[in-house]
Amino acid sequence: MDTYKEFQLGQFRFVRDDYFAHIHFPTHAGKAMAHKMDIDAFLKPLQRDIAWSFFYGMVKFDDVFGTINHYGTVEVFAGKYHKALHEGGFWHAEELGRGEVERVFTLMLEDWVPADFDPFAAPRETGSAIGPKRAANLDAIHRKRIVTTRIVKQSDRQEPEYPVNEGFKGMTFKEGEMHIKPGHEDKFAVVNLYDYLARSDVTWNPSIVSVLEHSLFCPTTEEHRLPVKHGNDRVEWFIQLNGQIDWEVCNQNTGELMAYVRMRPGDVCAMPSDIQHQGFAPERSMLLVWENADPKMPEKIRSGAVPGDPDKMVTMK
Ligand SMILES: [Fe+2]
Repeated sequence: MDTYKEFQLGQFRFVRDDYFAHIHFPTHAGKAMAHKMDIDAFLKPLQRDIAWSFFYGMVKFDDVFGTINHYGTVEVFAGKYHKALHEGGFWHAEELGRGEVERVFTLMLEDWVPADFDPFAAPRETGSAIGPKRAANLDAIHRKRIVTTRIVKQSDRQEPEYPVNEGFKGMTFKEGEMHIKPGHEDKFAVVNLYDYLARSDVTWNPSIVSVLEHSLFCPTTEEHRLPVKHGNDRVEWFIQLNGQIDWEVCNQNTGELMAYVRMRPGDVCAMPSDIQHQGFAPERSMLLVWENADPKMPEKIRSGAVPGDPDKMVTMK
């Protein structure tokens, strides 16, 4: 019978069975240790870590295991950012080449994600990864974002390729008014962002819809639970467009709870650069994530050139 493969990454060893991913590692105190995660809960962050190219800062798969993007190298850790495990010496971390981590994680996805499970989908839209080895789901794993090379124009309009998601059925999409000076018709277009987002076929996977120098607007649709706890390395802004998301905000070095945030349509919130956050969306919701993609930003915050606390960046009067 075909069985799941095992994978080695540095001194980490990954094994899966019907129910769990087991992560084996040597502890700081020199003993062998194993951490386990439910297989669905492991594969969802694994998929996003690869799709996001390790994202900004820290991607915690749960309270114990995860990665930190050092933009060239990736720290893979277990227990290091968990208060009790760190204090007890039950942790391990390695700084590895980005390509090496990417290669092993991708092979793991290809072997461990079965055809009936889409790690990008909301739970109501997909099956489960639980069970014995079966055919893979390579299309879902290697899903590519649609890339545009220039600004959208009115003449580009075509029938939408993707249907409106069940969670947004009944929503009306009105286009704004546009009055263009004759001779400039070819340079502009009106886009309804709600209409675009309502057709998103994935959850917790931002798409970049506008770029202005380092300023990226990354709207996304969310449902159920953000599969990762994201540890920021820069300030990140959230604008709730639709639905509701509750955020659990914790200290990223210890996992200790700091705040709950409930966001309803129109709410704006800025996450400080030194926290981790996980979102919970009881129904399919729309969120605009505003990122600063300045590659020097972590260093600017470390050196104090830029505040990592949004409170000190803006004054609301
Ligand atoms: Fe974040």
